Amino acid sequence: MVADIKDFKIDSMSFGLHAIATDPDSGIKVFIENACPGDELKAEIYDVQKDMAFAHIAEISSASPLREEDPRCKLHKICGSCQWQHIKYEEQLNFKRINLLDAFKLNKVKLPSDDYEEENYNDDYEKESTGNKARKQHQNISVKGLSNPWHFRNKVIYPVETVKSTGRLLAGYYKTKSNDLINIKHCPIQYSIFEELMEGIKELCSGEGIGTPLLRHVLLRSSYDENEVLVSFILRKKLLKARDRHAIKRIFDVILREFPEVKAATINYNDDSTNVILGEETELIAGDRDYIVDKLKDIQVKISTSSFFQINNEQFCNILESIKSFIEQARSENQRNTENGVSLHAQQDLKETETQGAVSRLKILDAYSGIGSISLSLAQAFPQHSFKSFELNNAAVINAKDNIKLNDLNNLEVELASAEDYFKEEENLDFDIIILNPPRKGCSNKILENISKSTAKWIIYLSCNPSTLARDIKFLEGANFKLEEIKAFDMFPHTFHLETLALLRPHSKTAPLNN
Ligand SMILES: C[S@@+](CC[C@H](N)C(=O)[O-])C[C@H]1O[C@@H](n2cnc3c(N)ncnc32)[C@H](O)[C@@H]1O
Repeated sequence: MVADIKDFKIDSMSFGLHAIATDPDSGIKVFIENACPGDELKAEIYDVQKDMAFAHIAEISSASPLREEDPRCKLHKICGSCQWQHIKYEEQLNFKRINLLDAFKLNKVKLPSDDYEEENYNDDYEKESTGNKARKQHQNISVKGLSNPWHFRNKVIYPVETVKSTGRLLAGYYKTKSNDLINIKHCPIQYSIFEELMEGIKELCSGEGIGTPLLRHVLLRSSYDENEVLVSFILRKKLLKARDRHAIKRIFDVILREFPEVKAATINYNDDSTNVILGEETELIAGDRDYIVDKLKDIQVKISTSSFFQINNEQFCNILESIKSFIEQARSENQRNTENGVSLHAQQDLKETETQGAVSRLKILDAYSGIGSISLSLAQAFPQHSFKSFELNNAAVINAKDNIKLNDLNNLEVELASAEDYFKEEENLDFDIIILNPPRKGCSNKILENISKSTAKWIIYLSCNPSTLARDIKFLEGANFKLEEIKAFDMFPHTFHLETLALLRPHSKTAPLNN
């Protein structure tokens, strides 16, 4: 069969791995890996669906000026991690911005009117081949990049594989859309400390006969200063024999001795065949603690094996500063309203602080709080306000409770709860500000419906998925909220992922907090 090779001009980037071109004959969208907007190329179509097709590059006829001439990682085309490394960093930020706007447009979300009107959406950028027009549009939304977009990942989870013929352990990433493991020795997006450590682990495991199918993944997590590292082996418990335990203990003892930065060594059990990597049970097997301690500006945080922690400390600290500035805005608005005699608090317990002449206290909820990174930072910065947080993962809640003590805070409480259950209770709807930071799938309609019945006058929504963020904002628009401000941050350079912070307030801007 003769391959269907055609000429294409690349228009845009998808929210994913592929660049997008239009088939000149059928007019359908063609998704092409490793292509860059502005490229003129020949591509081989390998999959045709109803209204789209997929193609591989056969030859680049004229490379886009937006292409990175010398991508830093030679494996980037085959390793599934850095889908956009072939695009110049500044242009990656621009395409992320366009994807964010596309998600809002698709969901018909009204953009903050002070900055730009709805009609600013311009279909032209979708047709523009070099992205230049897109760059000129929507200057009011930008994605904050990193001055150094390398060595930003504080955590890696490597799948492993034992080579049958030699017994050597390999660790790395799977080739895109395959089960072929690439043995990775150098990865420029990770903390440098992981390289030597991982090579040591491979060596020790190969020597002790620890590998697949018992060992599934190796997790490494480091503090920002790379002085505290946690190593965890994710194992199939049903395959673990006493001699394996002894071997793993010996391996961890050597690691703790040879790598003084390694402060915690655990095993995590996962016998399930799903794509969830970590199991619920974690065991300390060597050393004397099962967590590392990291710093987020002025707070210290304990982080255990299965607790969520944002993978890019520098950019997360920028996000925390933006959240603080929202809270400061709410605080000063609230104070102005108090001075102007606007009735502020429905809650009786706040009367005392008001009569003492102090600035009124806001009740702030951190929902989906993980180890408490957001509420810990806020509780420390705003000692006059009271904070509550909740989280589903027990290990993270244990960390959060320890972190409250570690930072000597008395204005923050944490609870183990699911968002589904938490927001069902009427007494949990009495907040002035609700901060949401759900996983990628966002919030369910039921959760949003309950939140919209709360007393909250500010919703601060931090999201790692523009699609679900836009969907959820649209839902809240229907519940009388309005997108007031939006900030985007590049937490994950060289990938299509984007972190976005949104501030929503009731339609009537005059509605004071707590009224
Ligand atoms: C994106 S993380 C945010 C964590 C935290 N805000 C931070 O910045 O470190 C989402 C968190 O939500 C938790 N989670 C997932 N589903 C949940 C649910 N249904 N109810 C409550 N928490 C949930 C996860 O365990 C995870 O810690």
